[in-house]
Amino acid sequence: MQQQNEPSISLDTTRIPQHIAIIMDGNGRWAKARGLARSAGHQKGVDTVRAITESAIKLGVKYLTLYAFSTENWKRPASEVAALMSLILTSLEEELFMKNNVRLRIIGDVERLPEDVRQAVLQLVERTNGNTGLTEIIALSYSSKWELTQAAKAIAREVAAGEISPEDISEDDIERHLTTVGIPAPELLIRTGGEVRLSNYLLWQCAYSELYFTDTYWPDFNHNDFCQAISHYQQRERRFGKTSEQVAQ
Ligand code: FPP
Repeated sequence: MQQQNEPSISLDTTRIPQHIAIIMDGNGRWAKARGLARSAGHQKGVDTVRAITESAIKLGVKYLTLYAFSTENWKRPASEVAALMSLILTSLEEELFMKNNVRLRIIGDVERLPEDVRQAVLQLVERTNGNTGLTEIIALSYSSKWELTQAAKAIAREVAAGEISPEDISEDDIERHLTTVGIPAPELLIRTGGEVRLSNYLLWQCAYSELYFTDTYWPDFNHNDFCQAISHYQQRERRFGKTSEQVAQ
């Protein structure tokens, strides 16, 4: 009998992506299909976050970036925003991070978060800083356009201060001002919930990522679905603008 969490899909363990980014979509529709409030979908989504974090650890993924709340999500009804904030506050349990040796990083405009959420997440980032296993990056109040605008402002300040000349601005200069500085680009981006778009997520970082879309709603997404996504990634040839023949060499 197949054990729970044992992949039914065979993966090349030498080619597991070191960084996987996920757009966790479909919580609302999952709840609606069951006659439940949208917040029940988000609640169930937290169980999936835990399960997929465990899967990532088992498979040897080094970085897992999860889109928990976008800049645009601030426009949702106040009650849903409040429910999501409260869920984030209660579900980020220190014990789980410590037990699994997971290091937490937050990317996004944390200044917009309610004070208690901001304090709690930043404290957890600090407390898990010495953990050496998986780095879990949670995108909170995040959007790529916000991030790139911040980077542009920071570079403009360096130019104004005479520290750098406009002609010398390089891709590295932009990267060192991104929230993901020091983190390798995701090799694989997964979006659940059936939509085929990037929704302002890691647009710079995913320039060469393989994209995987599934109709499965996030609360239903499981270890096998995760392995399926990785298997698709492993079947693709990553050319980075080169020809197949060049890659083969
Ligand atoms: C998108 O589904 C999902 C969100 C906006 C929130 C995702 C947040 C969680 C799963 C909780 C995160 C918690 C931690 C600890 C990281 P949707 O509401 O847009 O669904 P729909 O497209 O079906 O309406």
